[in-house]
Amino acid sequence: MPNDQTQPLLIPNHIALIMDGNGRWAKQRGLPRNAGHKQGAKVFETICDYCQKIGVRYVTAYAFSTENWKRPKNEIDAIMDLLRSYLKEASKQTKRNVRLLFLGDRAPLAPDVQQLMRKAERDSAGNDGITVCIALNYGGRAEIVHSAKELARLAAEGRLDPESIDETVLVQHLYTKGIPDPDLMIRPSGELRLSNFLLWQMAYTEFVFLDVLWPDFTPAHLDLAIAQYAKRNRRFGGIR
Ligand code: FPP
Repeated sequence: MPNDQTQPLLIPNHIALIMDGNGRWAKQRGLPRNAGHKQGAKVFETICDYCQKIGVRYVTAYAFSTENWKRPKNEIDAIMDLLRSYLKEASKQTKRNVRLLFLGDRAPLAPDVQQLMRKAERDSAGNDGITVCIALNYGGRAEIVHSAKELARLAAEGRLDPESIDETVLVQHLYTKGIPDPDLMIRPSGELRLSNFLLWQMAYTEFVFLDVLWPDFTPAHLDLAIAQYAKRNRRFGGIR
């Protein structure tokens, strides 16, 4: 019988994170919602550092969804400002051997944010320590539509035979091209849904939902989620 104490912990290759509960965390403390996002951004960095330390190769975090534009302008501006600060500090990430990537439709974002994103991606492209993907103006359905549109365009131009389209071809046009699917998805804050995050990529991902708000999330919570993941029997539709 395997012994939990002596077995090395099975570390997921790719962890997806829904950073939920920032607003509630702030409200509990009588603070503006944006204070929750600020603390959430700090926690994001701590958790990325910890993931790198324990050997996780990819982290993908949901920072702003295609639906988040419905929020008040001041909250959207605050999240974008946090992102600006994070990106301006991105040279630190380069030193830490972090490769940064962004998933989502960049066109509606402010030009300076787009420029900072391009620079961070370019400057960190050669890093091979951990890949941190930030989903920004990202929606899982929109991503699949985007891929379908590209395939349709290629077919219309005669550069792609529609009969050759299969899963391997379609994934080449997702924002996550070249990134392995998440092994583990963690959603804190007690909400039990996917909220349009990585719909295609998470077909066989293990889900762990925790009753902690994201700004209170610590490496110990990550360990807890990984321990749950390590006990799961992943069959990918087969028999084991
Ligand atoms: C969900 O909590 C959180 C967001 C929509 C924003 C997440 C953004 C950050 C943590 C900052 C991103 C910055 C970087 C550097 C990646 P919520 O506001 O929906 O919380 P609630 O459900 O309690 O209201």
